[in-house]
Amino acid sequence: MIQKIDELLTIVNSTVINDSDELEQFRLRFLSKKGELNKLFAEFKNVPPEQKREFGQKLNLLKNAAQEKFDIAQNSLSAHTAQGLNVDVSLPGMPLVLGSKHPLTIVKNQIIDIFSNIGFTVAEGPEIEDDWHVFSALNFPLEHPARDMQDTFFIESNPDIVLRTHTSSVQVRVMETTPMPVRSVFPGRVFRNEAISARAHCIFHQVEGLYIDENVSFADLKQTLLYFAKEMFGASTQIRLRPSYFPFTEPSAEMDISCSICGGKGCNVCKHSGWVEILGCGMVDPNVLKSSNIDSAKYTGFAFGMGVERIAMLKYQIKDIRLFFENDLRFLEQFKSVF
Ligand code: DAH
Repeated sequence: MIQKIDELLTIVNSTVINDSDELEQFRLRFLSKKGELNKLFAEFKNVPPEQKREFGQKLNLLKNAAQEKFDIAQNSLSAHTAQGLNVDVSLPGMPLVLGSKHPLTIVKNQIIDIFSNIGFTVAEGPEIEDDWHVFSALNFPLEHPARDMQDTFFIESNPDIVLRTHTSSVQVRVMETTPMPVRSVFPGRVFRNEAISARAHCIFHQVEGLYIDENVSFADLKQTLLYFAKEMFGASTQIRLRPSYFPFTEPSAEMDISCSICGGKGCNVCKHSGWVEILGCGMVDPNVLKSSNIDSAKYTGFAFGMGVERIAMLKYQIKDIRLFFENDLRFLEQFKSVF
């Protein structure tokens, strides 16, 4: 019997009461009418007289310990409630809301990864640029429409300063400052004075590529872009180069990929042609090399430029470019699992 009191005392002392349910369970077990203490008090009359004293002392000890434990727990729980902190520490925690990468960041990083796997480094340049780096050094004739007020955001007080209209400006900065050879990509934000619609925005993103070395040929350009297209859109992707014109490349081309949505059979996205345009490219014009003091007799190179929004829209079948800039969580959260 005395041993039983000792056991109960150990239990009382080691019990942890976290909330009102546990407090009530404790009360029922020890302090209620049918609880352990009352049972033991009822046993008192059956205890042999020589043990009564020790039994009584130990039982009182147990009673006090149980009552004290109950009082302290009750006080601290009601103090929490009184302060408005009805804390039940046994409840599961509040979930941590994790952010996720923006789809444009995901696609930009993917483009960078694909090119860095074949030895391209990454460089960046300023968004606010001078005319030289955006236009003049890239062989833009003075009357070229891209210089027009309609396309370019100029700084009113100084028309020599513009918001860059393409990341090709970073080519110039890199050619001016880096010893040859160069093999780099230049991701960044660009600005054009355009009406905002589902297909166009005045702010968007590009990744520019530049490879200059001895004996770089159009075949190198084609192979590099084929590799990129297959990595980005899947191994069965085909490419098609159409002759085009850019002031800074000669020859120039625009590259189409076989439509990643219909596999080339024809659908709305490819306007039933089976092909979608994704970038501009070409061999760096010798005039551009000369502008940056590169020996165009020794070095040749290729360049390309692509729109990140365009690639993301194709990859994820997004029909409206404005979604990228609205920061609507219902849109952004769909990319949580992408990586
Ligand atoms: N800068 C061009 C644009 O914004 C894209 C471009 C075309 C970049 C051809 C290049 C290139 O490097 O070779 O439309």
